[in-house]
Amino acid sequence: MNNKIKITRIEKSKIQDVDFSNFSFGSVFTDHMFECDFINGKWVNPTIKPYQPISIEPSASVLHYGQAIFEGMKAYKDENNEVWLFRPDQNFERINKSAVRMAIPEFPKELFFEALTKLVDIDRDWVKYGEGRSMYIRPFVIGNEYAIQAVPSKNYKFMIICAPATLYYTKKLKVLVADKYSRAASGGVGYAKAAGNYAGQFYPTNLAKEQGFDQVVWTDSNEHSYLEEAGTMNIFFRINNTLITAPTTDTILDGVTRKSIIQIAKDNEINVEVKKLKVEELKNAAKNGTLKEIFGAGTAAVVSQIKAFQHKGELFELEEQNDSYAEKLKSILVGIQTNKLEDKHSWRYKV
Ligand SMILES: Cc1ncc(COP(=O)(O)O)c(C=O)c1O
Repeated sequence: MNNKIKITRIEKSKIQDVDFSNFSFGSVFTDHMFECDFINGKWVNPTIKPYQPISIEPSASVLHYGQAIFEGMKAYKDENNEVWLFRPDQNFERINKSAVRMAIPEFPKELFFEALTKLVDIDRDWVKYGEGRSMYIRPFVIGNEYAIQAVPSKNYKFMIICAPATLYYTKKLKVLVADKYSRAASGGVGYAKAAGNYAGQFYPTNLAKEQGFDQVVWTDSNEHSYLEEAGTMNIFFRINNTLITAPTTDTILDGVTRKSIIQIAKDNEINVEVKKLKVEELKNAAKNGTLKEIFGAGTAAVVSQIKAFQHKGELFELEEQNDSYAEKLKSILVGIQTNKLEDKHSWRYKV
């Protein structure tokens, strides 16, 4: 395979037109994108070019059978204008894990890193320094064979696009614990970052939003007894001084933020238990006052505190904590990501 990336730069950057103090996450894109096609059993024509529409035929398999996967990661700028990625190896491994599950060919590691670092480097002015600021990076793959046959596509398109990012959730969240709908089932594709997992969440999440909730906390699809994850975040519960999060089974996305938070907690002598937690246990802890905190963890949302949850009509509100684990862990995580704190696990990756 010819790995050499062809680069065509934009004639005039769009960056002057963007108001970086006022835009919504995921709606503004940077100057360039990466594109590479899988044709005749090979990844070919790797290209970085100005961000623009792509052309696919209406028969493209992704439009009919949903063979699509994606990743989400961020680039951060430090106070010396250096740009850093956070654990990109984890996103690379996960996109290929998702690819295998969705019968999509894996993407080569060398080309992934070359494309990622060249693209981020070219668009580095879009990564802003400051609290909550970063650039979101979205690698994705779509089935692109022009044939409506319910079989894996023969052709694919791998792309990377980037979007300047600010804080995703700016307030504490109120969540609904699912007792009817499910996000993922055992044996299914919940652990993959497959596009359909998100489409399937939209309807029950909209119903929850209509009732005043920000997100749904998903439970296991068999009995709706065990807490799994929330929207686009893994979820942590602090009961007394122990942090509890669910093990990553085949129904839960193996979050990079989740595993980083677990490590940072251990490094800071916070007791962590990775175990299945029942909704009933959570409700009992809320009733007897031992439930101190709940928070979600994910690339877009970073660490987002949850102030209340409802299950089967019963609402539980959490009290403010003076020694919030969520705040402490978030500030260490962000400190590492933005090159303010020591990176003892070598998570930062300089662009
Ligand atoms: C379903 C789901 N769970 C958890 C996460 C958190 O994963 P990460 O920390 O790798 O962003 C995400 C977001 O990417 C997600 O979509």
